[in-house]
Amino acid sequence: MSAVLRVHNLTKIYGSGETMVTALDDACLEVHPAELVAVVGPSGSGKTTLLTCVGCVKDPTSGFIEIDGEVVYDNGWKKVDLHRLRREKIGFVLQTFNLIPFLTTWENVFIAMDLVAKRDQRAKTKANELLDYLQVGHRLRNYPENLSGGEKQRVAIARALANDPRVILADEPTAQLDTERGKNVMELIRKLAREKNSAVIVVTHDRRMVEGFDRIYMLQDGKMINPDVHA
Ligand SMILES: Nc1ncnc2c1ncn2[C@@H]1O[C@H](COP(=O)(O)OP(=O)(O)O)[C@@H](O)[C@H]1O
Ligand SMILES: [Mg+2]
Repeated sequence: MSAVLRVHNLTKIYGSGETMVTALDDACLEVHPAELVAVVGPSGSGKTTLLTCVGCVKDPTSGFIEIDGEVVYDNGWKKVDLHRLRREKIGFVLQTFNLIPFLTTWENVFIAMDLVAKRDQRAKTKANELLDYLQVGHRLRNYPENLSGGEKQRVAIARALANDPRVILADEPTAQLDTERGKNVMELIRKLAREKNSAVIVVTHDRRMVEGFDRIYMLQDGKMINPDVHA
């Protein structure tokens, strides 16, 4: 099966002169459908920069990114409408959950479909099904402030899945959870990669959280090392 995500020689430089930081230095990465890939590195190694460039939130300085057969950047030049690509193909899961506090659990998922003009009964039912799938179906009418950290993250994952993205990008998704809840969230991420055929990248500083992943890349000072160590 061909890769759903291809990244070659991705470089991101912030600032210039004395404040210049090379946050990513020629990073290369490929992810296939249903594949679970981890990028592990200490704080400041470039993990968030990698995900924001791959997720079309930040422009890389140079390099090549292809998502689901579409060339997104070639030598740093933008090739497609990034808003559309983000909406259609990418689901983000963040360390801080980023749920909308004045919307219920169900509304937090439904809004992702509403934003792409999917508001029919099918979309409504799908929000219920996704929340059931993520084991928070009993919390539909609760607001985020009344959910535990693990529940919030599962709602955030349901939202990330709402538009069937080809690529799911998770930035330290368990960093704010205790070990057991973190493991439960990671287990669900593993399950959805297999069952929903999504390509998943999880970045984390915690090597223990990514046992059983298909591939683990190590990131250090913006450089990818050991790109092919099997978990
Ligand atoms: N917006 C920015 N402007 C300047 N430097 C940045 C910016 N974002 C990140 N950096 C720097 O880039 C490097 C990588 O950061 P980041 O991608 O956030 O790493 P990680 O997510 O692994 O902690 C760090 O040295 C950080 O200070
Ligand atoms: Mg980070």
